[in-house]
Amino acid sequence: MKKVLITGANGQVGNEMTARLRKDLGRDNVIATDLKIKEGSANATEGIFEELDVSDAKRFRELAHKYQVDAIIHLASLLSVSSEKDPVFAWQLNTGSIINGLEIAKELKAQFFFPSSVAAYGVDAMPRFNTPQDTFMHPITVYGASKYAGEMLANYYHWKHGVDARSVRFGRLVSYKVRPGQGATDYAVAIYFDAVLKSSYECYLRPDTMLDFTYVDDAIDQVVKFLNTPASQLKHFNGFNLTTFYATPEDIANSIKKIMPDFKITYKLDPVRQEIADSWPQHMDDSWAREEWGLNPKIGLDEMTEIMLTNLKIKLKAEGEIK
Ligand SMILES: NC(=O)c1ccc[n+]([C@@H]2O[C@H](COP(=O)([O-])OP(=O)(O)OC[C@H]3O[C@@H](n4cnc5c(N)ncnc54)[C@H](O)[C@@H]3O)[C@@H](O)[C@H]2O)c1
Repeated sequence: MKKVLITGANGQVGNEMTARLRKDLGRDNVIATDLKIKEGSANATEGIFEELDVSDAKRFRELAHKYQVDAIIHLASLLSVSSEKDPVFAWQLNTGSIINGLEIAKELKAQFFFPSSVAAYGVDAMPRFNTPQDTFMHPITVYGASKYAGEMLANYYHWKHGVDARSVRFGRLVSYKVRPGQGATDYAVAIYFDAVLKSSYECYLRPDTMLDFTYVDDAIDQVVKFLNTPASQLKHFNGFNLTTFYATPEDIANSIKKIMPDFKITYKLDPVRQEIADSWPQHMDDSWAREEWGLNPKIGLDEMTEIMLTNLKIKLKAEGEIK
């Protein structure tokens, strides 16, 4: 990987990935792209930024050829909740953009990467704890279906056309830089914001809902390591499970209480988000990634809690939300 085009560069993962790769590869070797330029942002001011709607195959191709990239990191995607609101659009955007990217990678003999998700699994993936990488995949959301289809497309281009197409399945990524949304697992970000803002949080998932987590910096480090692993070393290329630790809302609350003993959590269940969270494994078995390319994320729950609380206090103070 010497010159890379990143899609969805303004997003949670994209922002961090762009900054990291500009450091590793040099600012002129990273082409950050997203729907619109964010004037004044680091993405816009500290290197090359191009506007790109990934469903526009022509512009996607033109940019990749113009800069002669040897890797495409395809992060643009409609996420789970927005996808459920407009499944037809979500399917077309998520799977269509992956095949657009794979076609371009084939032409340029470039590496291709996209992040799949724990949402690619469904309720019949067994066992629910330490769920194997290779098992029944029957997702219950269109987002999960589009991610699994993406894995299959990437496999197809790999075996049929020799494209170095790779993917990992993330559990929930956590970062203090992005405000929580309405996703099934956004509670894991919202709980930290509310801890700092009001020392309490009302959670919409059951206290024992166990899921996988990775702090965003760790996720980026591990993806970069994966992409730099020689192809000859890999037995698999797609759908690698990638997780750092598993936790429930109660575990996260207890971790916060170690720093903020007065923090209180209450529960008011949302059946829609609970059903989605229950359809995912409690913990994915990521031993194939550990064995084949040395997956070794480091930031556990308590360390993540410290990072989140420390940085949110600074951020929310700077934004005038707390004194
Ligand atoms: N954040 C997580 O916990 C998580 C977990 C599993 C997988 N993922 C995957 O990682 C990737 C990045 O996630 P994220 O959290 O940074 O998402 P995000 O929503 O923060 O960022 C997505 C970016 O894609 C851009 N985008 C949307 N439609 C586009 C289009 N048509 N053309 C070009 N850009 C478009 C958006 O403007 C946004 O900047 C996604 O593929 C997501 O499915 C994320």
